[in-house]
Amino acid sequence: MADENNSNGKNGKVGLVERVTTGVKEDIQALKTDIPSKAKEQIEGLKDPTKTQVYTSIFRHKHDDTPRNRALGVLSNVFLHLHPAKINRDAVRYSYTWGMGGITFYLFIILTYTGVLLMFYYHPSKVQAFRDVLYLEHDVPFGKILRNMHRWAAHLMVIGVWLHMFRVFLTGSYKKPREFNWNIGVLLLVFTLLLSFTGYLLPDDQLGFWAVTVGTNMARATPLLGHEGPFGPQLGMTPYNDVRFGLLGGSIVDANALLRSYIWHCIGIPIVASILMIVHFWRVRKDGGISGPAQVMLTAEADKPRRGPKAAGE
Ligand code: HEM
Repeated sequence: MADENNSNGKNGKVGLVERVTTGVKEDIQALKTDIPSKAKEQIEGLKDPTKTQVYTSIFRHKHDDTPRNRALGVLSNVFLHLHPAKINRDAVRYSYTWGMGGITFYLFIILTYTGVLLMFYYHPSKVQAFRDVLYLEHDVPFGKILRNMHRWAAHLMVIGVWLHMFRVFLTGSYKKPREFNWNIGVLLLVFTLLLSFTGYLLPDDQLGFWAVTVGTNMARATPLLGHEGPFGPQLGMTPYNDVRFGLLGGSIVDANALLRSYIWHCIGIPIVASILMIVHFWRVRKDGGISGPAQVMLTAEADKPRRGPKAAGE
């Protein structure tokens, strides 16, 4: 029994060694034939780089100026793909959209970028918040411009989002099939205003303190959830458990309110707003791109019978 085991083990070892050596030999043989052909390929590639594997792995189609290649160029590139392959020329005129949706988004990007930089200098505590703002204004290199870029971009974003909504309303773009996107837009408006409001308290100055005092005092009168709102007291709402208490993390605007504002301002709301923006842009594409001006038709043309299957009244 013991002998059998030994010989099995020995045989197994020999088999393994043999397999490895033949494998290595085969690999060396393959390399001998592969290297010259690969080298030839590389030399050919130097003559015409568009034929190399590296080039074709990045640019996956020809670049002749045909409508098909132009569309493929857009569709097969992740960055260009963010834009549609074809667009309605009139819909992207500035006179039609005012570019306001795009400008609002651009401002949001600026706000995110400058906001992250501001986070390096700001502490959301009653002791430090206002000092950090003074430090940024007077000592941090480029701190003043950083803070003001954030502030101005915030004001402009609020203006931009209103103007964008106004334009969508004027062009009737809230109508079918864009009703859903209008609603996403309304949420975006609310979140933009909430971003603005939560940012107001962060410098911990008098302006922010009183603005948030007044703003959150309105929450007292929330129906059902505020202790001064309709049916609030009946549902057991007091200044110590109602919605205002939840917003402030207490019954007065103090350290907890500052911390809550900070977290909502820097994490909660931007994440929700970003997700909504993704849905918003996806919907613009799915609803057939930017709406575009109504087609201009002569009365005579409008009266003409339509061509195609619908002409027969199907
Ligand atoms: C953070 C806020 C927002 C951003 C970044 C944003 C961005 C955009 C962009 C880039 C477009 C493409 C067309 C254009 O630029 O005008 C667009 C279209 C649209 N937006 Fe917004 N938007 C926002 C808020 C709103 C609001 C508040 C509403 C309305 C309540 C709204 C409703 C719409 C609708 C219905 C369209 C399609 C318009 C069309 O096809 O002509 N959006 N949005």
